[in-house]
Amino acid sequence: NKENKEVLIEVADEGQGIEADILYKIMTPFFTTKRAGEGTGLGLAVSEKIVREHGGQITVISESGKGSVFQVVLPVDTEKRKIKVLIVDDDEGFRHSMKDVLESREAYAVDTAPNGVEACINIGKTLPDLLVVDIMMPDMDGVEVCRVIRERKDLSRIKVLVVTGHPSSPKIRTLKEMGFTHILLKPFKFDVFLKKIEEMMGRV
Ligand SMILES: Nc1ncnc2c1ncn2[C@@H]1O[C@H](COP(=O)(O)OP(=O)(O)OP(=O)(O)O)[C@@H](O)[C@H]1O
Ligand SMILES: [Mg+2]
Repeated sequence: NKENKEVLIEVADEGQGIEADILYKIMTPFFTTKRAGEGTGLGLAVSEKIVREHGGQITVISESGKGSVFQVVLPVDTEKRKIKVLIVDDDEGFRHSMKDVLESREAYAVDTAPNGVEACINIGKTLPDLLVVDIMMPDMDGVEVCRVIRERKDLSRIKVLVVTGHPSSPKIRTLKEMGFTHILLKPFKFDVFLKKIEEMMGRV
């Protein structure tokens, strides 16, 4: 059903069917008509719970002696998942310009943070796909944020673009040695910034 964005899955059998007086309780946990040791009565209860948690429902149509039809209706998520980006820079104007540039493309959903501490909190909560991070910042600089990403296994798949206005800072070398090789020197043109990110995210 394209209009309501639902998908219907139907499973039918030509078995014994289900009597009307038990039909209403077949999804109840532990309800079974099988002999002890043959069934737990959990099959349908678990299925129903999984479907319900995904926003769908199961309905059963059954005729005793003829068979049963189980219908599963599930909502379809047609929105493509956006690439989650976290932009970290203490320069408010620059931070918002970078956000605007990225959000001009439908593919990106952008969060921002003004320093490393807030960045780490956001990273733990949202697990971004891409981190754009400035180096010099108060309250935990970019190098420290990158160190956290290196040290935690669950964060290792986050891609990192370092942006800095200090080309001669020894911190750049530290970052390179840690394996952070995507570095953009400020000031940069925003089309260069966008192209770099599209490349990093495999979109070109
Ligand atoms: N296709 C079917 N035809 C007839 N009766 C069914 C059908 N599916 C389920 N039932 C009835 O619903 C009851 C509960 O089903 P459910 O799948 O939850 O548990 P079970 O099959 O008894 O045990 P388990 O799934 O743990 O092996 C069954 O015991 C049976 O009486
Ligand atoms: Mg079963």
